Amino acid sequence: MKVTITVDFEHLAAEVEPRVLLVEWLRAIGKTGVHVGCDTSSCGACTVLVDGAPVKSCTMLVMQAAGTAIETIHGLTPAEGLSPVQEAFADEHGLQCGFCTPGFVVSTVGLLRESPDPSTEEIIDALEGNLCRCTGYTSILRAVHRAAALLAGEQRPIEAGLSHETPVIRNLIASSEVHEDLSDTEIV
Ligand code: FES
Ligand code: FES
Repeated sequence: MKVTITVDFEHLAAEVEPRVLLVEWLRAIGKTGVHVGCDTSSCGACTVLVDGAPVKSCTMLVMQAAGTAIETIHGLTPAEGLSPVQEAFADEHGLQCGFCTPGFVVSTVGLLRESPDPSTEEIIDALEGNLCRCTGYTSILRAVHRAAALLAGEQRPIEAGLSHETPVIRNLIASSEVHEDLSDTEIV
C-alpha cells in the first residue's frame, strides 16, 4: 500500500508491505541510528517521536504511521556538533557503549518539549521504557537535568542527591537486570 509520511522534516511517499514494522522501514531508508535492541518492545532503543510523542518503533506498523510526522535521532542531530541534549549526555557521561543512547536522547527531547524543567521523578517516568546496560542510570538522570538547564540557558548545578541508594534508581537498576538477555543482542 502507498503511504505518505514525514520523516525528519522530509515528506515521503512510499509503497510498503502492510506487515512492515516502522523500525524496519526507517532503517531501510537509512535511519540506522534507530536501533533494534530487543524487537520485543522492552528496550526503547528504537524510540522515535511520532507527532511529537515518543513511540517504540518496533511496536508500530509503518502503515499505522501514515500521515504522521516522525522525528528520529538523525533529525534531532545538528549537521555539525551536538544538540544540547546530546551535549548533556556527553558532559554527564550518560552513555558508555552508546547503543541505547539514540532512544534515550529521543525520549528526553520528547519529555523536555512537554516539561522543560522536569523533576527526577518525572524523568524516571518518561524514561521507564528505555533500558541501559552500561551506565547504571544515575548519569542519565544527571544528563537530563543538565539538558533542561542547557535548553533554558542556565548554568544551574545539577540536582544533588542522585545516587544508587535512591529507591527509584535501585528499582530502575533492578528492572534492567530483568533484561539480562539483551547482552546477547547483536549491535548493528
Ligand atoms: Fe523496540 Fe527494543 S527494539 S523496544
Ligand atoms: Fe551501553 Fe546504554 S550506554 S546500553
